[in-house]
Amino acid sequence: MEENIIPPSFEQLEAKAEEFLDAKPYDYVAASAGAEVTVRQNNQSFDKWQIIPRMFRDTSERDLSVELFGNKLSYPLLCAPIGVQSIVHPEGELASARGAAAMDVPFIASTASTYSLEKTAEEMGEKDKWFQLYWSSDLEIAASMVKRAEKAGYSAIVITLDTPMMGWREKDIDHAYLPFLQAEGIGNYLSDPVFLSRLDKSPQEDMRSAIMLWSQIFGNPSLTWEDLDFIKAQTSLPIVLKGILHPDDARLAVQHGADGVIVSNHGGRQVDGAIPAIDALPEIVDAVEDNIPVLMDSGIRRGSDIVKAVALGAKAVLVGRPYMYGLALAGEKGVQQVLRNLIADFDLTMALSGKKSVRELNRGMLKIQNG
Ligand code: FNR
Repeated sequence: MEENIIPPSFEQLEAKAEEFLDAKPYDYVAASAGAEVTVRQNNQSFDKWQIIPRMFRDTSERDLSVELFGNKLSYPLLCAPIGVQSIVHPEGELASARGAAAMDVPFIASTASTYSLEKTAEEMGEKDKWFQLYWSSDLEIAASMVKRAEKAGYSAIVITLDTPMMGWREKDIDHAYLPFLQAEGIGNYLSDPVFLSRLDKSPQEDMRSAIMLWSQIFGNPSLTWEDLDFIKAQTSLPIVLKGILHPDDARLAVQHGADGVIVSNHGGRQVDGAIPAIDALPEIVDAVEDNIPVLMDSGIRRGSDIVKAVALGAKAVLVGRPYMYGLALAGEKGVQQVLRNLIADFDLTMALSGKKSVRELNRGMLKIQNG
């Protein structure tokens, strides 16, 4: 890898990825729903939270680790589930998973991956990995994927609640681009015995019919809280609900037996105008009252963003687009370098704020601008 192919600045990283990629895949990754208000505000909202550093605190030894579902994570950081990764690099999720594993960052494999969850798991060996479920309207397919994930060694199931259908993504509509239609995001379906049993001909003989079936069963807008028991009955793994933005939904998650929630607006890709995730976080942390861990994503770009999210009560954060740009520019090594930069910046910012452990990050170290 060229020395400076992965710049430390997010803005430069994004600009390089834009220069490198064709417009369609770049826009699929970078853009979001509607007028892209939420994706902008996801980033800007971090700015209004200000860190008040403390001095003379002996930060020579630091502990960045956290405990989550009985596992020790080296950092409060995971790679967000991102589908169709082969649109930016031929090795897609396989390269991302290796890059994440090399940095000791758990990788969350998406249902909408190019490669099967089993192949992706193999790339990570014993390293911690989670599986993200898009809950199909064909319940047997949803159950099958969860069981496959448990068997393949994933340690948690993330259920994404905010995407029973795709948001209004104007650039993709304009480009007439849905990478799933090129079979870039259906690897977990083409390797699923239940999905295959629903087809008259194998995908090799008739890919069009496989894609048609996928489009019919991908999402499930009829789900309600009562349905959660169905997935819980399929697995003994912890269930983490992604896409929570309202404190009442966080309370419902606790009541219905979820093991964790992820405060997220899907990187602004679903409801344009939705509340920035960092602004939704504090009330949700208060609502769950330490019953279950709260994670967050949408807008994590720098170490100070992680410090702020953890100080506001997130147990850990997920990073999305930045590692996709690393993947696009330099494959596995690019993912590694993006994560390395983020972790180094987090470690430094924590130390310079006068904190020697993630456990010491708390709301008292933040001031809200004009608040
Ligand atoms: C996503 N995201 C996503 N989420 C999910 O649960 N399953 C998925 O398959 C995908 N796919 C996906 C593709 C692309 C190209 C992007 C950018 C995002 C959402 C993702 O997990 C996460 O919520 C956001 O990416 C976080 O925001 P940032 O870090 O990208 O701002």
